Amino acid sequence: MALIERFSLRKWRALLWSKVESSSILGIAVGTGKNFPYYPADAEITAVDFSEKMLERAKDRAKKQKVKVRLQQMDVQNLDFADNTFDTVAATFVFCSIPDQVRGIREVERVCKPGGKAVLLEQDLSANRILGWLVNLANPLLVRMTGANFNRRPVDTVAKSGLTVEQVTNLRLGLFKLIEARKRTHLS
Ligand SMILES: C[S@@+](CC[C@H](N)C(=O)[O-])C[C@H]1O[C@@H](n2cnc3c(N)ncnc32)[C@H](O)[C@@H]1O
Repeated sequence: MALIERFSLRKWRALLWSKVESSSILGIAVGTGKNFPYYPADAEITAVDFSEKMLERAKDRAKKQKVKVRLQQMDVQNLDFADNTFDTVAATFVFCSIPDQVRGIREVERVCKPGGKAVLLEQDLSANRILGWLVNLANPLLVRMTGANFNRRPVDTVAKSGLTVEQVTNLRLGLFKLIEARKRTHLS
């Protein structure tokens, strides 16, 4: 994982954060804070995770890296924010882990301002038919071992919310996807 992080993920994380176009940002399922180096300096950023351990590690990392971020314990499926709060919601490698992914993405849409953006970096192993088939077959075991569903299709998940998918960038033959989606304005 450290090698993948060094050689691919860092570049892709930087790409995702280059797509963020606003000042009020929510990062969901922040984990240990691997996105911190790419946070825009002048933005107001809140990041949540439901794991206390992850948040502790993220707090340490934020302190070491002098990153300004408000960290809160929260379930992505039930975000404790008012409707239309954030300009951008950002997520990296989140939707394979959330038990109810559709509920999670609908919460993302709810807290995003009209016209605001959601940017997601997710794996999509179904991009390779054989790999997709194998992962689907092994999914019950993989869920038990890792807690993650590696057979999910993130673009389809986003389409199940009210967000409009504007662009999908295929990375590593489409096995990873950078998804840019927008919340409709009252007029659209
Ligand atoms: C694979 S890690 C990704 C962490 C981070 N986004 C990254 O790119 O390194 C998945 C994270 O999702 C968090 N998570 C899983 N389900 C969640 C939920 N329902 N609400 C909030 N966080 C959740 C886990 O605690 C974990 O930190």
